This record gives sequence, C-alpha cells and structure tokens, in this order.
Amino acid sequence: MGNFKALWFLVFLCVLVSSFASVASSYVIKPALNDYIIPMIKDESLDFHSFWLLLVRLAVILALGAAATWCSNRIQLHIMTSFLFKVRIDLFNKLEKLPVKYYDAHPHGEIMSRFTNDTDTLRDMFSQSVPQLMSSSVTILGVFVMMLVLSPVLTAVVAGSLALMMIVARKIGKRSAAAFREQQKNIGIVNGHIEEHIEGQKVVKVFNHEKIIEADFAVLNDRLQQSGTEANTFANILGPIMGNFSHIQYAFVSILGAFFVITGSMDLGTVAAFLQYTRSFSQPVTMISQLFNSILNALAGAERIFNTIDELPETDDGRILLVNAYEADIGGEKKLVQSFAYTGEWAWKDNADNHLIRLNGEVVFDDVSFGYRENKQVLHNISIHAKPGQKIALVGSTGSGKTTVINLLSRFYDVPEENGRILYDGFPLNEIKKDDLRRSLGMVL
Ligand SMILES: Nc1ncnc2c1ncn2[C@@H]1O[C@H](COP(=O)(O)OP(=O)(O)OP(=O)(O)O)[C@@H](O)[C@H]1O
Ligand SMILES: [Mg+2]
Repeated sequence: MGNFKALWFLVFLCVLVSSFASVASSYVIKPALNDYIIPMIKDESLDFHSFWLLLVRLAVILALGAAATWCSNRIQLHIMTSFLFKVRIDLFNKLEKLPVKYYDAHPHGEIMSRFTNDTDTLRDMFSQSVPQLMSSSVTILGVFVMMLVLSPVLTAVVAGSLALMMIVARKIGKRSAAAFREQQKNIGIVNGHIEEHIEGQKVVKVFNHEKIIEADFAVLNDRLQQSGTEANTFANILGPIMGNFSHIQYAFVSILGAFFVITGSMDLGTVAAFLQYTRSFSQPVTMISQLFNSILNALAGAERIFNTIDELPETDDGRILLVNAYEADIGGEKKLVQSFAYTGEWAWKDNADNHLIRLNGEVVFDDVSFGYRENKQVLHNISIHAKPGQKIALVGSTGSGKTTVINLLSRFYDVPEENGRILYDGFPLNEIKKDDLRRSLGMVL
C-alpha cells in the first residue's frame, strides 16, 4: 500500500471534508430550535428571513460533503484496482521463481485459490471496509469533540458505554479471526482437490474410483462448511449486539437529557443536537463492528497471499557459465576464446578467473542417494559414468527412479552434500549457474 501514500492522503482530506459536513449539519439543529422554532411557538410574528440563510448554509455544507465523498470513493477505487493488480503481478512472478519442491507440497488448485478467493477477500475489504473505516473514525472523532462542547456530562455517559462495546467486540473478534483463517485454508484445500480430480478424470474412471472420490470430497466440503459457519457466527452476532447497545445508549441519554432540561440546567436545542450526535456516534461504531467480517476475512486471505510472496526463491550460487566459444591460434598455440556471437561450440566459463573449458557432456553420478521425503529414500548409492557422446537408456519398473535421475541432473532437486556428488564435465553440479546448466540440456517430457 506504500505505493499510494499521496493518494491515501488525498482520500484522507476528502474524508475530513465529508465528515466535517456531516458533523456541522447536525449542529444546525441547535440554533434552529433555540433561535427560531422555540421562539416561534411563543411569538408567531417572528422574522424568518435569517432562517432561510441558515437553510442555505446547511445546503452548501451538505453539497460540499457529497462532492468530497464522491472524490474519495473515486480515488479509492483507483487505489484498490491498482493494488490488486500489483498483488497478482507479485504473486505470479514469485511462482516463476519458486523451487519445484514448492509445487510438490501445494496442489495446483490450492495455489490458484490464492489468485482467486484470497485476492477477492482483499478486494471486498478495500471496496467497502477501508473507506468506511476511515470515514467512520474521522466522524467518531469529530462528533466526540462536538459532544464534549455541548455537554461533558452526557459525553461521559456515551464514552462509558462505548468502552463496554469495545471490550465485547475484542472478545468476539479474537475468536472469529482464527475461524476465518481456517475457512480460507479449507477453501484452498477444496479447490486443490477439485483441480486434482478434473485433471485425473480418466484415472478415476478407469479404476472405478468415483465413490471413494465423492466420499473424500464430502469430508473436505463438510470441513469448509463448518469453518465457514463458525467464522460467520461470531462475526454476525457482533453487529446486532452493537446495534442494541446503541439503542440502549440513545434511550439513556434521552432520559438524562430530559431530566437536565426539566431541572433547567440545559436547553432543549442542546439536548436535541446532542441526541443527533449520539446517533451519528454509535452508527459508525456499529458499522465498524459489522465490517469485522470482511476485515478478518481479508487478513486471513492476505496472510496466505503473502506467505507465497515471501516464500524463499530457488537458490542459485553457481559461478560456472555456459558461453559460445571458438578455437583461436594465439602465438602458435590453439586456445579456446569466448565469442559473443553463435559459433556452435560451447564452453564452460569460470566466472572467478575467466578460464574456459570445452563443454564435452561427461556426466558422473558418484555414489548418489536421494529421497523426496526424509523417510523415503528413492535412489540408493547410484553410480553412473556417462561418457561424452554415449547413448544410455535407463530401464526399470515404474517408480524405480528413472525420472528422479533426470530431476537431479536438471537440478529440480538438490542432493545434500553428504549423499554423494554429481559432476558435469568435472564441475560439481551446484557450481554451474542454473540457467546455463538447463540451457545445456535437452529434454522431452
Ligand atoms: N515429487 C515427488 N515427491 C515425492 N515422491 C516422489 C516425487 N516424484 C516421485 N516420487 C517417488 O519417487 C519414486 C521414483 O519416482 P520416479 O518418478 O523417479 O520413477 P520412474 O522410474 O520415473 O517411474 P515411471 O516409469 O513411472 O516414470 C516413486 O516412488 C515416486 O512415488
Ligand atoms: Mg518417470
């Protein structure tokens, strides 16, 4: 979001203006009642000329507020779509840099769910919650100041009940945050399952596996339903609780205000304006509590998106590069020289000393052991010597590890140092830069 600092500032200014308009328009009730309406009841021949001025002033304030609201919504729309654009770019670019291992651990549908469901939660938050949160906070602050000006005693009553509301909101919020996280995770799992079975349709059919697959899916789907119910139960009771709190608060302030008017310590206009503020005070508070849903959901989605974006990329600290070369006569001696044009001859270049060695294609597996998972070894002490130009076929039953040998040679997976070595033209495989290593290999999958 740091890319949009200036725009956020503009939005903030617009929100200030529109909140000011809503606070100021409520205040108009006080002079309207005290200076015009109450005197009118007593004296019917009042001059209403200046009352029109009051109304015009009110209209200007409200028009200004409406314009500011429009501007801030328009800018926020721009921020939201640009932000999602950037998130998708970052996410996609990260996918290109992740090691093959990452794709083993995450089903494709589950990864795709980060592009769809998880980014959707962010969109919902930015299109509704953030703008409302911002204007609500500013309104609360403005209304609070005006309430203090009108009556510190009544303000204390309102502040006390607000504190109570906050405590309740925090308690409920904690429980639903965990449930929303669970829900986003389960959406990913269900998507992964669906993707796998669309891909593997023929396999499922040929093994008559439909019933078992359906039962598996029902279990995952049930888990998603449960976490969805739990997440929304907590979040949905919050709104009504806050709503009722604010009704009780309104009634309480009315009674107290009436008491003050009867005892003569407050005028009717002040109480009427204050009651209006009590409404516009609890409205944003209730609003914020209703936004909890989408905010918590978006936090859960963002966590999954940024888990992927923050995932460590494939490492590559190879210093041996693959370059074009040609043989030159230097002082009667034949030497390999690097060429920047295509020559059809290739050489390994050591980045440290620029020394060139001809690419021969000699591959040595020296006592290599490997397993994809810690407790399941696939290759057991394999030694192969492939001489340049030699044609070799690996033959074996399915799952015996033929593809694994190629996976290691193309460095889709790395062999830990203690489990043997793979040499390519004499270089340990991990000293060759990955791009250059893969450029030197041909593969038909
Ligand atoms: N990404 C992976 N994660 C975990 N285990 C894997 C992975 N890829 C392969 N295996 C396991 O490693 C073993 C060797 O698999 P590999 O794909 O190398 O066999 P293969 O000889 O190429 O078989 P096929 O003839 O069917 O192609 C198998 O037991 C397989 O289940
Ligand atoms: Mg294979």
